Amino acid sequence: MPHALITGANRGLGLEHVSQLLKREWTISAAVRDPESADALKALDPGDGRLNILAYDASDLNAANALKDQVKGPIDILFANAGVMGPKEQSFGEAANDGFLDTFRVNTLAPLALAEAFADQVAQSQLKVIALQSSRMGSIADNDSGGRYAYRASKAALNAVGKSLSIDLKDKDIVVLTLHPGWVRTDMGGPNGLLTPTEAVSAQLDLIARANPAMSGRFFHVSGEDLPW
Ligand SMILES: NC(=O)c1ccc[n+]([C@@H]2O[C@H](COP(=O)([O-])OP(=O)(O)OC[C@H]3O[C@@H](n4cnc5c(N)ncnc54)[C@H](OP(=O)(O)O)[C@@H]3O)[C@@H](O)[C@H]2O)c1
Repeated sequence: MPHALITGANRGLGLEHVSQLLKREWTISAAVRDPESADALKALDPGDGRLNILAYDASDLNAANALKDQVKGPIDILFANAGVMGPKEQSFGEAANDGFLDTFRVNTLAPLALAEAFADQVAQSQLKVIALQSSRMGSIADNDSGGRYAYRASKAALNAVGKSLSIDLKDKDIVVLTLHPGWVRTDMGGPNGLLTPTEAVSAQLDLIARANPAMSGRFFHVSGEDLPW
C-alpha cells in the first residue's frame, strides 16, 4: 500500500491531499502542529489504521528528526506542504525584521530538514517523490509587483533547495518536484483564489503520478507547465 508523509495536513491543501489519497487507498502520515485540534483531519479517518496523525512544528529544526522516530518504512511521497505567508510587515521600509527569519524556518529550512531526514525511506519506496509546496511568488523572473519580501524570498530559497536536492538525490532515484499549486481558495489564498482545493490537489496528484527523472529539479505550475525561476 503506498504511503505519503504530508505536513500541514490539518487544513487547506494538506488536508485535501490527505482526503484524496485516502480515497485512493493510500496510507498517510499526517504531520500537524496541533493534533488535538485537528478535527477536520480526524473526521477523514477511515478507521482502518491508514491515517496516522503526528505532532510536527515546522519552526522547530529538530522536528523532522523527531518525526523520523515515528514514521517507519518506505515513503512514496514526502510532501513538504506546510507553509506560512509570514509577518504582516513585508512592504519596503519594514520588511527587514525577525519575522523574515521565522518565515524561512518554516518555508525553507523545514522542507530541507524533512528531505535530509527521510531521503532513505523515500528511496525505499516505489514512487520515490519529494514534493515541495512552493509558490509562483518565489519566482524571481515572474515578480512584477514587488513587496512580500519574506514570503517571496523564502519560496525562492525553497526553489534553490529543490534544485540541489534533485542533484544530490539523483543517485537514489528520487524525483524532486517543486510545485506551485495555483491560486487556491484556502485560508492563505483567500476567497478570490482561482481554484478550489479539490481542483488544485487533484491536478497536483496527477502531476506527481507522472513523476519521472526528467521532471526532477523543475518548477511546475499546477497546469503542468514549467515556471521560470
Ligand atoms: N493557497 C494558495 O493560493 C497557495 C499558493 C501558492 C503556494 N501555496 C503554498 O501551499 C502550502 C499550503 O498552503 P494553504 O493554502 O493550504 O495554506 P493554509 O490553509 O494557510 O494552511 C497552511 C498549513 O501549514 C501549516 N503550518 C503553518 N505553520 C506551521 C508550522 N510551524 N508547523 C507545522 N505546520 C504549519 C498550517 O498548520 P496550522 O493550522 O497549525 O497553522 C496549515 O496546515 C503553503 O506552503 C503555501 O505557501 C498556497
